[in-house]
Parts: sequence; structure tokens; C-alpha cells
Amino acid sequence: MRILFLGDIVGEPGRKSVIKFLPQIKEEHRIDFTILNGENSASGRGITPAIANDLFKAGAQVITTGDHVWDQRELADHLENEPRILRPLNYPENVPGSGEIIIDTESGKIAVLNAQGRTFMGQALENPFLMLEERVVQLKADGVQMIFLDFHAETTSEKIAMGFHLDGKASVVVGTHTHVQTADERILPEGTAHITDAGMCGPEISVLGRNVDSIVYRFKSSLPTRFPVAKGPVRLCGIIAEIDPMTGKAKNIERYNRLLEPSEM
Ligand SMILES: [Fe+2]
Ligand SMILES: [Fe+2]
Repeated sequence: MRILFLGDIVGEPGRKSVIKFLPQIKEEHRIDFTILNGENSASGRGITPAIANDLFKAGAQVITTGDHVWDQRELADHLENEPRILRPLNYPENVPGSGEIIIDTESGKIAVLNAQGRTFMGQALENPFLMLEERVVQLKADGVQMIFLDFHAETTSEKIAMGFHLDGKASVVVGTHTHVQTADERILPEGTAHITDAGMCGPEISVLGRNVDSIVYRFKSSLPTRFPVAKGPVRLCGIIAEIDPMTGKAKNIERYNRLLEPSEM
């Protein structure tokens, strides 16, 4: 089972590029299952139902999110009718949507989970380490071997710790949120594929997807500033992981990292 995951899609440049190139990437890399993090796909802030539909049409099976999930107001209602868009699972139970979906594939069931870290993150959510430990054991007991987690967190330590925490239990643990791809992809000792951060799909000449001048101005002046999404060439970042469907263990993980020139757009 070959899984493609693309990290935080930022604004129009990111989503247009993903929509245009996803079919080609899937064919070229013989991808069986595609997961996208869409938390910044609407002008950098959240995701709308229309954008999510475009990403599904382009070939995604599941869309994960993170701390920006509530930025577009209409999404909360939409989550109740669209189980393929996940919000972090460690919100309180009365919050709309779900942090998990189980999908039947030709290779067996796969569970996709989305959780948010707690270190240097805005919201005070439930402890994801305790919640996921319990949930992953239950999924295995229910016969779900393939388990993919998008762990949306700020610190490298929390994301690496989650990888080891679920090593041998989850198939893939991928970090998101910091928008910069790390070069530490590996299979952990008990068979979980891990990378600290998958990186983003967004403008190359930017600060985490936003216009450089406005961010530099903010740091120079300390004044509140608007941060428009940057323009120009786009880089697509993520990972491709291969999982043994019988055991749920990962066989391989590699980084996906491709700079698209304006001529390709
Ligand atoms: Fe993000
Ligand atoms: Fe985020």
C-alpha cells in the first residue's frame, strides 16, 4: 500500500498546484491512497467546503487539518456531513466533526487520524498521547492494521516523541504545522514510518507561505500586520510511505519535494 501525504496546502498557489499536479504525482509514484493537509488552503486560513471538494476531485481520499480548522465559519457545519475532512481528535466531544476516519481499500482497512500537539499551540486540548495510545490499541483490536496519523504540532520534540510513542502501533506518523520539511524521515525500530515535519505546499519565496516583506516588517516593527499569501513559484512537500497491509508495518518512507517553475503552472 503506497500512501502519498502532502503537507499544509497554503492559499491559492498551493491548492491550484496540488489540484493540477496530483493526478500526475499519483500515477508516477503508483500511489494507492492520498491524504492532504488542507488547513491553510483558503487564503492561508482554514479550508472551505468548495476547496475541499476540489481537492477530493483531484484525487485525495482524506483531508486533515490543524489549528486553523475553524478559520472559515462554514466548515463547522460541513464537517458533520463530510467525514473525509478531519479536525484534530483531541478537541472535546461536543465539537463538530471527527479526528478519525476508517476507509475500506482493496488492501484492507486504513484508519487516518489527525491530532494536535499542546506545546506552544493556541488551544488547550486533551492530551493527544493518552488519547492516541488508547485509540490505536482499539483500532488494532478491531482488525484495522494500517493506521496513519497527521500530528499537527509546533515543536520537534513533541512530534518525535509521538513517533516513538506509537512505534509499532501506527504505520505512519507524520508531523505538520511548521511548514518546513525536515530531513529525518526514517522507519523507527518497531516499524513505524516517521518524519518530524512533512513541509508545506506553497510559495517558495515566502515565510511559511506568507509574503516576505510583510513578515519582515512585522519582526522589525512589532506592529500588527496583514500577512498575504506570497506569489511566485510553488514547492510541493510531503512524503510517500509504503505499508505492508497484513502487518501494518512500514516498509519505506521517502520525502516528496518538488519545486514547480512558473512555466509549469
Ligand atoms: Fe499550517
Ligand atoms: Fe497549523
